[in-house]
Amino acid sequence: MKILGIESSCDESAASVVEDGHILRSNVIASQVEIHARFGGIVPEVASRQHLLQFLPVIEQALSEADIGWDDLDAIAVTQGPGLAGSLLVGVNLAKSIAFARELPILGINHLEGHIYANWLAEGQWDGEKREDPPFPLLALIASGGHTDLVLMNDFGSYQLLGRTRDDAAGEAFDKSARVLGLGFPGGPIIEKTARETTNPAKLPRPWLRGSHDFSFSGLKTAVLRMAEAEGEIIPEHRIAEIAAGFQESVVEVLVGKTVAAAREVRAKAILISGGVAANGVLREEMIRQAPVPVYCPRPVLCTDNGAMIAACAFFQSKAGAPSNMSMDVRPNLSLV
Ligand code: KG4
Ligand code: ZN
Repeated sequence: MKILGIESSCDESAASVVEDGHILRSNVIASQVEIHARFGGIVPEVASRQHLLQFLPVIEQALSEADIGWDDLDAIAVTQGPGLAGSLLVGVNLAKSIAFARELPILGINHLEGHIYANWLAEGQWDGEKREDPPFPLLALIASGGHTDLVLMNDFGSYQLLGRTRDDAAGEAFDKSARVLGLGFPGGPIIEKTARETTNPAKLPRPWLRGSHDFSFSGLKTAVLRMAEAEGEIIPEHRIAEIAAGFQESVVEVLVGKTVAAAREVRAKAILISGGVAANGVLREEMIRQAPVPVYCPRPVLCTDNGAMIAACAFFQSKAGAPSNMSMDVRPNLSLV
């Protein structure tokens, strides 16, 4: 079954063809990062206009790289939410138009659920080789720009929320801390790169929230701000690296420590990480080092937003009997559970 997955929830116009939920036939992502970087963050109006401009060629390229035509598609999958309303509208209406014109079933996918299913894409797995599918029960950490969720999955489509961020998401904390340090947008990749320039990470607090599986990163972000302010008008380069490294160390320690503790508690057979923050090399290495069970994490390009995860998720929903939903609306505030 070949599914075209369309993702437009934020600032990536992305389309992919995925076969049987596992085989990545194409993965095209037109990023708007350079346009939004000028403003230090995503401007919703600009994002939806850019989607309008770039989506048709993105979809044509996804079909051509998969070496298939419209007639070879079996279904269309599209992100329904959560995300920016104007951006979601472009993707959903485009997907509906294609489904209507080609008489194909259409499935609306939860973006957060989609992130998890990047772990079923064969080429997406950690070592680049086909591994066994993740075993249930499993614990999934979704760490993105808008969410930090710890989810127990007993089966496909079964989600129990164990913990979530009470304030800033992990990715949001990366983005805001990078801005404070004058490093630009998006913060995650730049902080990771800058942190490599020092062996002396600054000492910053660990927001453990003991006794709960929830997260909180806003205090840590404020601690970064205070430390940066203490440096005066211009922060010396070596201090920028030390603060970036200290911040990353704290986020990684907390994300890994809490995920591993929860995995032990629920006797999970595997840990899955996903979402943009899961692209972070230090997080991936530490999770693998500390976890008592196998860790699955998609290739970095499949951690950040993409259409393949949406198509993969739709395959498993369709297998479970989910009906076509031509009358869906966008759901900007959709949550996983
Ligand atoms: O999943 P995603 O692409 O979009 C959302 O659904 O939000 O995640 C984007 C977030 C951004 O906050 C970005 O700074 C962060 O993921 N990110 C990273 C890395 N690459 C992207 N955070 C830490 N380290 C990275 N290498
Ligand atoms: Zn995302």
